[in-house]
This record gives sequence, C-alpha cells and structure tokens, in this order.
Amino acid sequence: MPYNFDQPIDRRNSDSVKYTIFDDPSIIPLWVADTDFISPTPVIEAMQARIQHGVFGYNFDNVPLRELLVKRMADLYNWHISPDDIVWVPGVVTGFNMAIRAFGRMGEEVLIQTPVYPPFFPAAPNNGLFTKTAPLTHTEKDGVITYQFDEEVFRSAITPKTSTLLFCNPHNPVGKVWTESELRRIGEIALENDLLIISDEIHCDLLFDNHRHIPMASLSPELAQNTITLMAPSKTFNIAGLCASFAIIQNPKVRARYAEMVGNAGLHVNILGLVAMHAAYEHGAEWLHEVLAYMQANRDLATAFVRQYMPELPITHPEGTYLSWMDARAVSLPPNGQYMDMFEPFFVDKAAKVAVNRGGAFGADGTGFVRINLGTRRDLLQEALERMRSAVADR
Ligand SMILES: Cc1ncc(COP(=O)(O)O)c(C=O)c1O
Repeated sequence: MPYNFDQPIDRRNSDSVKYTIFDDPSIIPLWVADTDFISPTPVIEAMQARIQHGVFGYNFDNVPLRELLVKRMADLYNWHISPDDIVWVPGVVTGFNMAIRAFGRMGEEVLIQTPVYPPFFPAAPNNGLFTKTAPLTHTEKDGVITYQFDEEVFRSAITPKTSTLLFCNPHNPVGKVWTESELRRIGEIALENDLLIISDEIHCDLLFDNHRHIPMASLSPELAQNTITLMAPSKTFNIAGLCASFAIIQNPKVRARYAEMVGNAGLHVNILGLVAMHAAYEHGAEWLHEVLAYMQANRDLATAFVRQYMPELPITHPEGTYLSWMDARAVSLPPNGQYMDMFEPFFVDKAAKVAVNRGGAFGADGTGFVRINLGTRRDLLQEALERMRSAVADR
C-alpha cells in the first residue's frame, strides 16, 4: 500500500501545537518534533476498532504487546529482554524525570551532553539534583557540521557528585547515531564512575543511510544492569499525542523501585495509546520504510540547498532523527519576546516566516544555531528553504 507523503493535510484545526501557536497562517512551522504525515493505516484502523467497542475503562497492561516488544528487541538489536523488564510510561520525558526522582539524591549531578533536547536541562533540578554539561565538539567541512564525542571533556565533567548520565541516542538536535565503539567508551566511563545511565532512545527507529541503532543496554550484562532505556513509537509513527512509551529495565531492583515510583504517581498509558503502539510495531514496518525514504530525501534536499545557497550557514547532515541543526550565527538575532522566544526571530519575523527552534534552548553552545524539522511535505520544505535563502540574501 503506497503512502503519499506529498498529499497536503491541513493540521491547523487539529489541535496541532506546531500550527496553532501562530496567529499568522503564512508561517511555515518547522519546529516541534512531530511530522506532518498521516500515521500508518493499520494504526488508525486499530484505534477505530477499539473506539467502536465504546467502553474505555482502566487498562494498566497489555501482555501481548510486551511479547511483541521482546521480539522486536531481539530481531532489531539481538537484545534479549524479558516481558517483565518493561514498564509502561506515558512519555519519555516523564520516564527520565521519574528515573532521576527514583534514584537521584538531593545535591547530586546529572550529566548531559550538549547541545541537547531542552527538557534534559530541567530534569535534574525538577528533582532536587544539579545539571552538569559535557559539550560535544564539532567540526565543519564544506558547509557540513559533524559532532563528536570528546572523551577528555566528558571525563572532566564528572565529579564525585555525579550520579547519573542522561544520554540521548540518536542525539537530538545534532542527528548523531552513536557508534558501537563510542557507546562502549561512554558505557565504560559510566560504569567506572558508578553512574546510572538513563538512555533516551526515542529516535531509535529514525535512521538514514545504513546507520544502525545500538541500545546502550544491549552491549554488556554490566551495562544492562546499570541502564534504564526509554523508547516509544511516538516519533517513529507520528503518534506523540497518544502518550505511550516504555522503559526497559533489566536490573530487578532498579525496575521494582522505578515501577513503584511510576505507579505511585498514577502514571499509566491510556487504552488507545497501547492499541496504537501494538498496531504500529506489528504492522507499521512498510509505512516506516517509506516515510524514512521520504525524510531522507528531505534531508538530502535541505543539506544540498543550504550548502549551495546559504554557504555562510553550515548545517548537519543527520544520520538519524528528522532534525537538521544549522549554525545561523551569521544572521541570528537576540530574542524579542515573541512566541516565548522559542523561534529564531531572524527567520520567523522577517519576510521568511519560517519557524525554526532557537538553538540556545539546547544549551549555551547552541546559541545562534537553529533546529529545522524535516518531517514535512517536500514542497513545504522547499518553500521554507527558499524563503530562508531570500531572507539571508536580503539582510
Ligand atoms: C530526545 C527526546 N526525548 C523525548 C522526547 C519527547 O518524548 P515524550 O513526548 O514521549 O515525552 C523528544 C521529543 O522531541 C526527544 O527528542
């Protein structure tokens, strides 16, 4: 069943924050990380069938879905987990906040690698801990930026108070898919320093070219015992609004404490979220294959366009995620109080009217950068890029 991702779908009256936040309908929104694509047909049909039943009482579990996830981890990653290792959580941000709350002690530090997804920053202080940053380093060649892991920087950010590593793989916003040797290095350092690893792997299915996702916990029994892995179908199948995610925790003591914390807080996934997750993982592979090819072509378009027409603004060529990260320091402007300062004023306010995330929210090293969401129709992306090019040329 071929999907047509070029087909316009009006999201303006569909509760989409990506669109409804703007009064001006001419703004092209390339910000929050959902896509403009319709979800896989089997997901929609499964939810419709469930709605048809008409009774929506509590449902705290889905045993066949646990089995499906066990099989998925084995098939995709040769990672052998058991159904009991899974703890349902409504969202990945909730999931990592709960992990810090369950295991962090007041005054300890949570290490994060910047630039990174903004909710990584408040996760520690939300729960009485401090945030410690270990910036990634980057190089630029022919207008393309590549981010690297710097072991020196990483090691020197760890202090006796550092208890937790909040890790992002693939890494939002720089689109880095961590390699096995990098993961082993980071994992070893975490074990040496007794850091609990919370591995946010929400973007694990969004891979381009031949990049391969490796769950941190799959690399050794020691890492398995020391890692809380968070995954979800939400980015993969564009069902973020359904709030259905899961943690995989192979250490029984850690899992019991975590599950207790999540349960006591009354957090669970709603019925439709579990139905959608099940259908997506069982029947969504064809859709995913097609949407990845489409978004990879969008990525290629964005990189080629920016290199050719805006060479003063270097850009990443993401290996994974559908997010590009552009060094817009040559044009970026200070925040101006509009739209909660989330969008780069140079692009949203000027003639461009393109809403891209301001990079400063991703860490001090992101200041002047912008994040561009590629998960949209090609003609809209092309139009956005043209407008950005004109704004840069006319400044
Ligand atoms: C790295 C990362 N983690 C978590 C989330 C959001 O997860 P959730 O909506 O399940 O809380 C995002 C969304 O962009 C993300 O990029």
